[in-house]
Amino acid sequence: MQQKPSLVIVLADTNTAKFCCNELISLLKENQINIEMLVIEANENSKSLDICQQLWARLVELNTDRSSILINVGGGVVTDLGGFVASTFKRGIPFINLPTSLLAMVDAALGGKTGINFNGLKNYIGTFNLPVFTQVNSKFLESLPIRELHSGLAECLKHALIADIELWNLIEENSIKENIDQILQSAINVKLKIVAADPKEQGERKKLNFGHTIGHAVESCLMSGKKPIPHGHAVAIGVLCESSISAERGILSKSNLELIFNKLHKFYESTAFTNNEIDAIVKLTHADKKNRAGQVNCTLLTKIGEAVIDQNITDEEIRNSLNYYQSI
Ligand code: GLY
Repeated sequence: MQQKPSLVIVLADTNTAKFCCNELISLLKENQINIEMLVIEANENSKSLDICQQLWARLVELNTDRSSILINVGGGVVTDLGGFVASTFKRGIPFINLPTSLLAMVDAALGGKTGINFNGLKNYIGTFNLPVFTQVNSKFLESLPIRELHSGLAECLKHALIADIELWNLIEENSIKENIDQILQSAINVKLKIVAADPKEQGERKKLNFGHTIGHAVESCLMSGKKPIPHGHAVAIGVLCESSISAERGILSKSNLELIFNKLHKFYESTAFTNNEIDAIVKLTHADKKNRAGQVNCTLLTKIGEAVIDQNITDEEIRNSLNYYQSI
């Protein structure tokens, strides 16, 4: 930005407000910049229209204008929600992302997808709108609980599976901490390269949805049944199910499928589904944003490091993959 912003609004959650904002606030104060803090609850329920309305109302009270800037400090919930609030307020005010979780650093805070959940459906309302910039600082990962780190790792594993076999080989259970900077860099590179080629998801970018057709359905189902799991854990289940569909179709080798199951099982405990939950998950895949003309449109794998987009999958394949996932 050339000029000083008229106001900087820092959006954080209850954890990041306490532990991740001090340096930023001191820096802004040193530069005599007007600051306001907005704090939301640190959970997926914050990605709602209700919270958006509260945030928009607060921006009005603060006389926020287009020379103000919103800085999102947090994980994917904060960057998705903050990006959406900023890109819709007065038809768009600029925003910056300072991601504090691995998931946000390699995925949510990059590439300009913003959004909230609607009627129990993940990221159904949103925009494509790039932040002014995203600043990744791996020091925020040092204090992250292992469950959170593994949640973000699911997106790194996904990036590896669709485009980077070296990254796949680098991600090993007992060396995550030592290799974290290299994992971060490689996973970010996969995302940035794909987004640069296809910013609005007309083709290539659909590869980034690998694991998410079934993963989002699992996440929405368990969230509404009040036994939520972290986003990354749901993505890991989606990755396993969509890999098993790829192998069933004969486009992915059984040996690659085995490697994928072996590695992911080291990071994510198994989740069991009731028959009713399986029915609900199959139904929810029909609400996926990538679907066309009532067909569930999915990205599948052809080998570790290579994916294929626009594959229609059937309810029976989804059901079988969930049963296979549970049986392993
Ligand atoms: N999270 C998938 C994408 O940004 O396209």
